[in-house]
Amino acid sequence: MLQNLRIDRSKDKAHGDFATNAALMLAKPLHQNPRELAAQIIAHLPPSDKIAKVEIAGPGFINFFVNQADTAQGLMDMLADAHLGIKPPEHPETVVIDYSAPNVAKEMAVHHLRSTVIGDAVVRILEFTGHKVIRANHIGDWGTQFGMLIAYLERMENQQGSGMVLKDFENFYTEAKKCYDEDPDFAVKARRYVVMLQSGDAYCHEMWQKLVKMTMDQNYALYKRLDVTLTEKDTMGESMYNDMLPVIVKELADKGLAVRDDGAMVVFLDEFKNKEGETAGVIVQKKDGGFLYTTTDLACLKYRIETLHADRIIYFTDSRQARHMQEVWAIARKDGFLTDKVKVEHAPFGMMLNKDGKPFKTRDGKTVKLRDLLDEAESRVDKMLTERGSSFTGEARAQVVHNIAIGAVKYADLSKNRQTDYIFDWDSMLSFEGNTAPYLQYAYSRIRAIFRKTELTGGQIVLTEEAEQELASKLLAFSEAVSQAAVKAMPHLLCTYLYELSGIFMRFYEACPVLKQGVPEETARSRLSLCDLTAKVLSNGLGMLGINVMEQM
Ligand code: ARG
Repeated sequence: MLQNLRIDRSKDKAHGDFATNAALMLAKPLHQNPRELAAQIIAHLPPSDKIAKVEIAGPGFINFFVNQADTAQGLMDMLADAHLGIKPPEHPETVVIDYSAPNVAKEMAVHHLRSTVIGDAVVRILEFTGHKVIRANHIGDWGTQFGMLIAYLERMENQQGSGMVLKDFENFYTEAKKCYDEDPDFAVKARRYVVMLQSGDAYCHEMWQKLVKMTMDQNYALYKRLDVTLTEKDTMGESMYNDMLPVIVKELADKGLAVRDDGAMVVFLDEFKNKEGETAGVIVQKKDGGFLYTTTDLACLKYRIETLHADRIIYFTDSRQARHMQEVWAIARKDGFLTDKVKVEHAPFGMMLNKDGKPFKTRDGKTVKLRDLLDEAESRVDKMLTERGSSFTGEARAQVVHNIAIGAVKYADLSKNRQTDYIFDWDSMLSFEGNTAPYLQYAYSRIRAIFRKTELTGGQIVLTEEAEQELASKLLAFSEAVSQAAVKAMPHLLCTYLYELSGIFMRFYEACPVLKQGVPEETARSRLSLCDLTAKVLSNGLGMLGINVMEQM
């Protein structure tokens, strides 16, 4: 029951700055009237300079009104701090973030966008809050399909020469599959090539590397275009764990956890029992000796714990992989290398849907390529700028188009609770109104414009007007919003905060003139400091989401 005891920031200034339901929660076990209990609590509060007034409200809430001078000082401190009041953690953690993870010889599709964009935001948030982050791009670069892919690459090179550039992986994969299904000679060769690749044959290895490089070169270019921080050094693909796989299976067998079942090595755990008491069993090695996605993830987890010394590991994959994750962790716990000292978290996300609520596909039912999506975003923004009479040209215009387009696409994804499916809709994400990137970017630019109109600079903050106090209280809540987003690996909490902050700022700006004639210089400079701090919070907040701001747009 006491876990329901809360202290919250008040939504409405009339109810003070903070409120607690402590008296309501304690009244029952203490057999007391909540309002009387609230009065007693208030009577026993230690004196504090930070609190100006305490009141009982409603059935027994206690409302706290903070001392505005103290709040003002808090804002001045925040303004002077590059981390805007976000204190370094008492126990900095090493956090491995598993995200993006596209597959080799396949186009990075729209659903990879979610993992990439959400994962990268959480990376930036955790780094900003002072944790050590290790980016892990667990690319799918191993498996039986590589025999077929190598055989097909060989065929293509014979036709087009070895310097060929691959533009269309979607076709490459389907064509390779077609040859495999329809051409028996090709299939024989493909099967031979897998075996050769696995036993370290130089030619197959070189061909395989070419496939990996061709795919990843395009992906790195996409990351750059998306302002995503992943680079080559973050790629830790499935193939990296090959040598560990037989060791893992042997260890599981030695411990009696994996048993031979119909030729395969299988782990049966009570955790996997269904209601009827049957356990499905998880295969860790196939009859033919091949290893599986689960085996690789076991090795990978062990590596992250024992070699990277992770304290926390977050996997950004779609919600359909939830069971897979549970199986890997259960086996790792039984084996013993995963203990309660390490936090493992699956940060699942839903699907991206089109306006009709159907999975996001091209008109002919193909998966939408990320590249095409970004091209479209940019051309829409370019048109929009023309309609708005933008005076930007050349390089500067291209940069503004990039910032708005990429920002809008990323923010549309980031601003929704990642656990739910989300609807991809151009018109709403590119709108300058509502909870969108263009709205927030524009709010930032408008504040920066104020500073171009005056010689005055920010000064000591004094909070007198209610709109000032409301803005102040929201600004001070920045570190809480960031920390919540970090703890829950949920960037939308930061988005919501920034959106609310912008709204509160607009109200302040309407109610409290800054540069108007007749405003005393002291007041103007106090308000300029509030503007400055709001702009800093917006740019740092958007920065943590991987979204650029502009002085003018
Ligand atoms: N490559 C996988 C996919 O495209 C995602 C990998 C996620 N990470 C992991 N450790 N399993 O679905």
